[in-house]
Amino acid sequence: MTLDEDANHANTGRRAVKAVIPAAGLATRFLPATKAVPKELLPVVDRPVLQYIVEEAAAAGISDVLLITGRGKTSMVDHFDRQPYLESRLEEKGDTERLAAVRRPSELAEIYTCRQGEPLGLGHAVSYAESHVGGESFAVLLGDEFMDETAPLLPAMLDLQAKTGGIVLAFIEVKPEETKRYGIASVEPAEAGLVEGAEVVKVTGLVEKPKADQAPSNLAVVGRYVLPGKIFDAIRRTKPGSGNEIQLTDAMGLLLDEGVPAHGIIYRGLRYDTGMPLGYLQAVVQLACQRDDLGPEFRQWLGEFVGGFGGRSG
Ligand code: UTP
Repeated sequence: MTLDEDANHANTGRRAVKAVIPAAGLATRFLPATKAVPKELLPVVDRPVLQYIVEEAAAAGISDVLLITGRGKTSMVDHFDRQPYLESRLEEKGDTERLAAVRRPSELAEIYTCRQGEPLGLGHAVSYAESHVGGESFAVLLGDEFMDETAPLLPAMLDLQAKTGGIVLAFIEVKPEETKRYGIASVEPAEAGLVEGAEVVKVTGLVEKPKADQAPSNLAVVGRYVLPGKIFDAIRRTKPGSGNEIQLTDAMGLLLDEGVPAHGIIYRGLRYDTGMPLGYLQAVVQLACQRDDLGPEFRQWLGEFVGGFGGRSG
């Protein structure tokens, strides 16, 4: 079957309009900060990580976002709600700038939530979206992965998925010693001209967290996916895998084996895993340096501070 025939077969051609943000994980890599505060609400300068992610989805034309939350995570939902008392106080003070900033999260998209009773894995978390998404394709954005808003990837992923009707992944290139932290793909060249300007590859297989000598490539799956509705049935058929969790990678592997087309786009912009202290700090420093209001002073201080270390290593 050609891609076009397959796209017709899968009744595609339409860009996904809904996104799912799984955010029910335990966040053990950032304890104790995340004991009572969800990692998705840690601030990158003055906005929680999660707001950047919803902004990324909204900028890609997604107007409907389902947050998968868990125990102790309801404050995430509050962030996207109106705050009438706070808003009226800011209005009285004539603080229009902060008023707009406070209202903005509630204006980005329609936000829906559901709870994953127990954190049994990313695949398990995504399965909760089935009734909300229906049989349509949808995007998945991990709630702790920050991508540079000046180099967006999601629009090209949505375009590609509308063409193929299959699975679309996001890849970064990693060093050999890093493959054990990621899902790694085996790939071959994709049909030419699928999405203009994007580095697209065809995915032939996926391996979860291989050692360097067993990794089929240096392309690591990162936290943006566009998936067909049939993923839900595949998740139902997926047995617990790595970490005894129901892995999304394993469910995608089932679909791959059954001939569902899978492609990936190689991302070369900046991306941080804010679910651990180093990635989080990098995101904060980058954003602070780029801000028009804070940037000049912060960059000067940072340069002096780092210079003060003068090559000392500790
Ligand atoms: P992670 O692998 O980062 O797991 O999940 P985690 O539990 O959040 O964090 P660590 O590894 O213990 O520090 C990737 C994404 O999938 C979500 C997480 O919230 C995160 O956004 N997730 C993971 C769920 O929603 N439910 C799960 O059962 C597992």
